[in-house]
Amino acid sequence: MRTPIIAGNWKMNKTPAEATQLIQELKPLVKDAKSTVVVCVPALCVHAAKQAARGSKIKVGVQNMHWAASGAYTGELSADMCKACGVDYVIVGHSERRQYFGETDETVNKRALAVVRAGMTPIICVGERKEQREAGYTDALVEYQTLIALTGMTADEVKKVVIAYEPVWAIGTGLTATDEQANETIGVIRAALARKYGKRVADKVRIQYGGSMKPSNVDGLMKQPEIDGGLIGGASLKAEDFARIVNYQE
Ligand code: 13P
Repeated sequence: MRTPIIAGNWKMNKTPAEATQLIQELKPLVKDAKSTVVVCVPALCVHAAKQAARGSKIKVGVQNMHWAASGAYTGELSADMCKACGVDYVIVGHSERRQYFGETDETVNKRALAVVRAGMTPIICVGERKEQREAGYTDALVEYQTLIALTGMTADEVKKVVIAYEPVWAIGTGLTATDEQANETIGVIRAALARKYGKRVADKVRIQYGGSMKPSNVDGLMKQPEIDGGLIGGASLKAEDFARIVNYQE
């Protein structure tokens, strides 16, 4: 019903030459993928990544984007720049941006809206920290983060976004949410979408799991009914590992 989407988040890794090499290695390995395959690369690698991905189904994304059309925003990227470079996906509100760069639910919303209005697909990240899970706030928190991020979008726009549920305690730690934990929290997000936008919209939205997803745990996670894909950090930096995740066993 929903086409799964497996996306790599390269974070601050790879030069353009390394990006070319990784994508060249990846291409033959993912040629039969049934999922949407995306690599979210550093902005300076977009050109190389697009060239290398030619003739394949690999889509190229970036890891952040500003909401303003242009102007005095040192260090930021605009929608026009992303579009002109062939970017199709933009990660918005990653927990590392929330934690280290002062990203808030409100700025995540502005960025997500700008991505959607420019005809690209935002991958909107939500997720709780360890102490928030332990205090029992996970469901309320991810619901709040998700609904704020979508404020101002029409139901048709909401249908097209991708949400990534990334528990902060599972990112880069080797700790993974259990299959059931990930499925349950993603179910909570979908239920919140259904209450606000209706079941038909909620059933269309692709919701990924992210946080130490790797070849050894992808199959179990992807068997869960609510999980529509993955947002992968560390394991997306090696062609063989990322390809194994893309070609997960159903
Ligand atoms: P890891 O897969 O390295 O845990 O990172 C997950 C992530 O943050 C993807 O956005």
